[in-house]
Amino acid sequence: MVLIAPSILSANFLHLEQEIKAIVEAGADFIHIDVMDGHFVPNLTMGPVIIEAIKRVTSVPLDVHLMINNPSCYLESYVESGADLLTIHVESSIHLERDLALIRSRGAKAGVALNPSTHERVLDYVINEVDLVLVMSVNPGFSGQTFLPSAVKKIAQIKGMLKAAHNTKCIISVDGGINEGTAASCVKAGATCLVSGSY
Ligand code: DX5
Ligand code: ZN
Repeated sequence: MVLIAPSILSANFLHLEQEIKAIVEAGADFIHIDVMDGHFVPNLTMGPVIIEAIKRVTSVPLDVHLMINNPSCYLESYVESGADLLTIHVESSIHLERDLALIRSRGAKAGVALNPSTHERVLDYVINEVDLVLVMSVNPGFSGQTFLPSAVKKIAQIKGMLKAAHNTKCIISVDGGINEGTAASCVKAGATCLVSGSY
């Protein structure tokens, strides 16, 4: 079964509650929330206040994707605000193992995201500490970008790494440019969750 995580970055923010209800009724497995700080990525979105508000109107798990610098300073606040899955970028976490352990110790699932130019081997020493790997198939920052095909090979490599480490429960999620064409190749390669904004 493939999980579907609609990204609310493409929502109409003036009608966020109705938009959330619509994706929940349509069968969303997670609600993907893109947090951007204007530094790690050239865009600025939402933070814990909005996540708390979303948490009040749905029981669907919140899949929070932090595209921020210095994530370690904010992990507790995002878990407290209602993140069920909290994903940090390997490129911005200085002490990745410690950050993942902190997320789990606060009761959330821990995810690691990889930019398109980041090699999957960075996961080697944390492969048993992750509940989700988020393969970015666009350079993060905006909805509506074109899928980068190199993500397909990366997904297959990560699937093999997780299998070798006996961490087969870990979700392999792919984010960016997902549509009916690109989704199929990602699932074939081993993706178990599809994030989609504009599509
Ligand atoms: C991009 C975000 C994505 C974005 C996906 O930086 O992480 O979650 O919302 O949007 P689409 O599906 O339009 O590429
Ligand atoms: Zn995202």
